[in-house]
Amino acid sequence: MASSSQADLHEKLAAILGICQKMNSERDLGALLDLMAHEATNFLDCDRASIFLLDRQRNELWSKVALGSEEILRFDARFGIVGQAVLTGNPVNVPDAYSHPQFYTAIDDQTGYRTRNVLAVPVRNQSGQIVGAFEALNKRIGAFGPRDEAALEALASHAAIAVETAQLIGELRRNQDELAQQNANLLREVESKYSTHGIIGVGPKIQQVVRLVERIRDSAVNVLITGESGTGKELVAKAVHYTSPRARRGFVALNCAALPDTLVESELFGIEKGVATGVQSRVGHIEKADGGTLFLDEIADLSLAAQAKILRVLQEREFERVGGNRTIKVDVRVIAATNQDLEAKVQDGSFREDLYYRLKVVPIALPGLRERPEDVPILIEHFLRSSASRLQREPKRVAPEAYRALLAAEWKGNVRELEHAIEQAVVLSSGPEIQLSDFPSLAAAVVSAEDASEDGRSGHFREAKQRVIERFERQFICEALERHRGNISKAAEEMGMYRQHLQVKLADYGIDATAYRRDR
Ligand SMILES: Nc1ncnc2c1ncn2[C@@H]1O[C@H](COP(=O)(O)OP(=O)(O)OP(=O)(O)O)[C@@H](O)[C@H]1O
Ligand SMILES: [Mg+2]
Repeated sequence: MASSSQADLHEKLAAILGICQKMNSERDLGALLDLMAHEATNFLDCDRASIFLLDRQRNELWSKVALGSEEILRFDARFGIVGQAVLTGNPVNVPDAYSHPQFYTAIDDQTGYRTRNVLAVPVRNQSGQIVGAFEALNKRIGAFGPRDEAALEALASHAAIAVETAQLIGELRRNQDELAQQNANLLREVESKYSTHGIIGVGPKIQQVVRLVERIRDSAVNVLITGESGTGKELVAKAVHYTSPRARRGFVALNCAALPDTLVESELFGIEKGVATGVQSRVGHIEKADGGTLFLDEIADLSLAAQAKILRVLQEREFERVGGNRTIKVDVRVIAATNQDLEAKVQDGSFREDLYYRLKVVPIALPGLRERPEDVPILIEHFLRSSASRLQREPKRVAPEAYRALLAAEWKGNVRELEHAIEQAVVLSSGPEIQLSDFPSLAAAVVSAEDASEDGRSGHFREAKQRVIERFERQFICEALERHRGNISKAAEEMGMYRQHLQVKLADYGIDATAYRRDR
């Protein structure tokens, strides 16, 4: 007798284990609920079984398979026999459903199914919280007994874990799908922003650049972009990357001028853990750009030692991390940019000739704005529209007098300077039309030029011009410092100037940047 009940127990345990394995390999919540219902029905030898999950926010119980269909059944968690199991946290075994006060006859009425007996047990998660109930209906022979109760409870305890895992995976999948969607949208946006469409200009010089970028779109040759500050070197580098088959991989930019010699190697090549105490391993820019593009900005400022190391990557397409001996292979396209005369640097020995030729497989020389005055009107138009859309306003017009001043201005900082002047004027102007006075620097220059020409003492043209320029520069710089609260780097960036250059100017004019700090 004892051995037969032991064999029975053994069989039951083996069956539960089998069901658990099946449950644990099902990751889809809907399919999991179906599976549990089906297995429990067989295991308890009854007509139907269902899992009800508790929706805490609405205090409702819901089940997908309660009616043996794809329909979802939902009801108030305070009612019904299942509700009682959830509320009390105890199994509820009802041998005669219709004589039980909590029995919910509505479902039978609706489906024509006749419930005789019901067994419901709470489903708890690992932290003991009730997350639903497992219900079995109509034992095939007789009514549910204590063994059925124990079996359903055993299944319920495993069900909770499988359900939570499936819910979690479902949520992760939804998040992942959402992220992938967002990512695709962003990429499309970036691609259209930085394709050659973003390079504005109608003149032959800039159109030649656009055509060149389009011609090299399918090849991975290295590109050297030269041009004065603010002529669009970075913009063109991004266009080269985003129109190429590498667009879906990284565009990794490294400013060589901002890099002290001691950091060049670790920034470029990365670092192996434990080189010095407490050093964590770090991936360098070259590795990050694998499959994509490495943009080496201000390449002329790279030290000779660093130039040698970059050359090796270009030649061998491999490198080692600092402190590591594993050779890492990469596939990177290098686009370099500079506003210096690299050829002169090659001549005087401060730039390696071999590296120079490796980089300038395709040279792109960007013209300064003064060499392409025909593009100024369309650039004005473009920046009026882009500032308007950023500020979510209608684009403004430029008053004729201001327009003439814009066309006549010198734009030493090239497109960037023009862009900033317009953005600033759009913000400053109050009406739908931008006036000359909304361009403080232009207005100052025009007024000073008038002052100077009316000034009887200024007979010498060059001196008069110099005075006007100095007054204009002083005012322009002071206004930028005012806007950036004395932050020299930010003011220099806005003006399209190097920080060091601005510092020299400040010293020349005896301007004290700290006087513009608001936190004084
Ligand atoms: N042809 C152009 N069409 C539209 N915008 C342009 C064009 N050229 C430059 N710009 C804009 O001018 C600004 C400066 O361009 P970018 O940063 O590419 O210049 P840069 O040559 O890299 O300057 P720097 O030498 O100072 O680093 C950017 O906001 C860029 O979008
Ligand atoms: Mg740049």
